[in-house]
Amino acid sequence: MARITVLNGPNLNLLGQREPDIYGHETLTDVERMCRARADALGHEIAFHQSNAEHDLIDWIQAARDDAAAIIINPAAYSHTSIAIRDALSAFTGPIAEVHISNIHAREGFRHHSHVSAVADLVICGAGALGYVLAIEAVAQRI
Ligand code: DQA
Repeated sequence: MARITVLNGPNLNLLGQREPDIYGHETLTDVERMCRARADALGHEIAFHQSNAEHDLIDWIQAARDDAAAIIINPAAYSHTSIAIRDALSAFTGPIAEVHISNIHAREGFRHHSHVSAVADLVICGAGALGYVLAIEAVAQRI
């Protein structure tokens, strides 16, 4: 059994209420339940976090160096702005999956570039909440 850290950035606490036409009707609690169910079926455990603060995400990424085999991260808007999150992920040696619920490439131009993608092993976007489950499948194969 390995631990997979699943991190969620700003405003993802509002999933289900926030722009449901873009982000769907599942809440973050639904996403967490889906992740735990899939990880459990694969024999792994999940540490699941959300924060609106960049430093919390960095602290969890750093902690994962000692206590997780893989990271799944939806950095939300920090994808497009945060070199600090990218640098923290670069120091993690296990597989990293970047997830976006929406297809960022089909949206506003400022969403098309993610600083995180270059240090991620895989990127899933546009699959809705299912993207997290697909990411668990993908990192589980690499652990
Ligand atoms: C998002 C896409 C980002 O551009 C946006 O800032 C988010 C959510 C997604 O999951 O589709 O907050 O990461």
